[in-house]
Amino acid sequence: MISDTSAWRALEKHWKDMAGQSLLALFNHDPSRCTRFGLDACGIHLDFSKNLINEETLGLLLALAESADLASWKERLLAGETVNNTEGRSVLHMALRNRGGRAYHAGGADVMSGVRAVLDRMRVFSGEVRSGRWLGYTGRSITDVVSLGIGGSSLGPKMACQALRPYQTPALRVHFVSNVDGADLSQVLAALDPETTMFIVASKTFTTQETLTNAKSARDWCLTKLGNSAAVARHFVAVSTNRDAVSAFGIDPKNMFEFWDWVGGRYSLWSAIGLPLALAIGMDRFDELLDGAHAMDEHFITAPASQNMPLILGLLGIWYNNFGAVSTQAIIPYDQNLRDFPTYLQQVDMESNGKRVTRDGELIGYATGPVVWGQPGTDAQHSFFQLIHQGTRIVPVDFILPLRSHHLLGDHHAKLAANALAQAQALMRGRTEGEARAELEAAGMSPDDIEALLPHRVFPGNRPSNMLLVDQLTPYALGALIALYEHKVFVQGVIWGVNSFDQWGVELGKQLAGKILKGFADEAEVADTDASTADLIVRYKAMAET
Ligand code: F6P
Repeated sequence: MISDTSAWRALEKHWKDMAGQSLLALFNHDPSRCTRFGLDACGIHLDFSKNLINEETLGLLLALAESADLASWKERLLAGETVNNTEGRSVLHMALRNRGGRAYHAGGADVMSGVRAVLDRMRVFSGEVRSGRWLGYTGRSITDVVSLGIGGSSLGPKMACQALRPYQTPALRVHFVSNVDGADLSQVLAALDPETTMFIVASKTFTTQETLTNAKSARDWCLTKLGNSAAVARHFVAVSTNRDAVSAFGIDPKNMFEFWDWVGGRYSLWSAIGLPLALAIGMDRFDELLDGAHAMDEHFITAPASQNMPLILGLLGIWYNNFGAVSTQAIIPYDQNLRDFPTYLQQVDMESNGKRVTRDGELIGYATGPVVWGQPGTDAQHSFFQLIHQGTRIVPVDFILPLRSHHLLGDHHAKLAANALAQAQALMRGRTEGEARAELEAAGMSPDDIEALLPHRVFPGNRPSNMLLVDQLTPYALGALIALYEHKVFVQGVIWGVNSFDQWGVELGKQLAGKILKGFADEAEVADTDASTADLIVRYKAMAET
């Protein structure tokens, strides 16, 4: 296991040296720190100078990546080997955005011709709908698209549609429904006209309870209003790997966009799962998203280790997670349109690396995936930043800031940017007792009041953060940003020795929900259940029957 290597032990020892260091002192000692600990790739600038690291730290972390054999895992990924060993699958999302001549194979067969064929179909279909040429059952053009999917079949396109709102046309609105809670679908449908609404049923397996329940209710809504099952062909398309189930649902396989089992759900935005985004921004812009991701892929594959942005980002996470005993990672975009980015990354990161056994099934004795969370600044500053500044826990933060806004509104963007920079600065420098005292004295406070208030006004500082700058949130920049985090998660998974591409942890709850659902109708189905769940079932039924 990686924790038995000398590289790991050297880092454990090194953390003890670094933990007592002051970031401010490190900067005072070496003002060029932000040049040495800064990287540029694919339009992203990463300033990682505000981390508790020095050159030795980086060297030791890079040695850890070598001990984990990262280079050969990259090769296996690119070669289409079944790196998703528990599902026996290749992991080829890079093929979906492969804009160059690189060959990708799964099971020895080329995948690129299929990828290109689906992209071509997406171009034709999105062009038809966006131009108004695709007509609904009653001959009217489509004004609203509703994507029905959950998890990886929803979070990516939903996040990206929001992120790229400035590229959308008001003539075509795209909505997302994921929750099996009827409130989600009902509230979206309430404002829509079935004659002008198109549904995309997005499900890799086409068996997911939430998505199929929403799809059936959407089909009922459509047919009730349009009165003929022939309407389904004009108002429903599917994105799936499961042709038979799509047909059985009543969607014409001609209206199905295919993808493949070597595309993991949370890595599927680049496939036809991105269809809602292609409809929202057009296929040329969707291509730019793929270009940005592809550029980051090539950077990850070819850049030397010390210049490799996803590798460095992944190693910094490992530094705190495994040597600083920090179990969390905040993602704070200073861009309102990136509001869904932390949620999207939660799945990418936590579903990938939230594992407790190695690829070979051995129990792991060190921390794996952190708790990932966040929300956009400046709102986050007024909710949970108190804890990040003065709480007892260390929370490493990734700040993400586009330097130019799409919204030229007075001095809003200057204020937004100033806040982003100030938060990173405040976390690093903190406020000493002396500074706090001077401030209170200047405000004319009595000595007794100063003594009482002083401990509350001190900020410990020395709290780590990364700053990621992009010129503007374009499709290209977004593609590069997402791919950066995907590769970061891969790097960390390799070092922890886990399979980052399965998600068995979501299965048990699904199975038990199926059983309990049956138990609502037939007590015998849950006769063997525990007392607590049995009591809750009784309470639910009593209320549901009134
Ligand atoms: O949440 C579990 C999960 O399997 C995700 O990995 C996946 O993205 C999601 O469910 C949806 O699955 P499907 O696309 O098959 O409906």
